[in-house]
Amino acid sequence: MNRDFMNDLQRIYSLMNYLEEQALERDYPIIWERTHAISCAQIGRMLAEKRNIDTEQAALACALHDIGRWISGRQVDHAPKGEEPARSFLAEAKGSIGMREQIVQAVINHSKKEHIGTPLEELVKDADILDCYWHGLKIDKVHHIHRLKQALTTLGISQLKEG
Ligand SMILES: [Fe+2]
Repeated sequence: MNRDFMNDLQRIYSLMNYLEEQALERDYPIIWERTHAISCAQIGRMLAEKRNIDTEQAALACALHDIGRWISGRQVDHAPKGEEPARSFLAEAKGSIGMREQIVQAVINHSKKEHIGTPLEELVKDADILDCYWHGLKIDKVHHIHRLKQALTTLGISQLKEG
């Protein structure tokens, strides 16, 4: 078991428990935020293995990518709004300053799915879209479908299920 990641995950769940008690109106239920955070982390590790990226940096970036929406409850601008909460969360995490800053940038930029960013940013975007797809969210924007197909191809899956 990776105890550093378990510690980070404990802090993520504690934050979500606290936010759940605030009973904010949310665009997505908190159960989705919990599910999406942890399943994106595992997908992120898988992509990281494929792409020769640090698996634990990838897992933490993926786990945190929607932190802006956890806090506000809202989808609008949730990626840039994740900057400060991500930075403050990461201040107590392991890893070099440079690696943590790359995670902050991946949080800020993860919604720019039509653009190509750093390898870590691309990994977070791909993990996000794969997880949404496998949980049955509708993927309908043209550039999202394009990214999804490419990410599936990375994993050796050539067939996109319709529906
Ligand atoms: Fe997001």
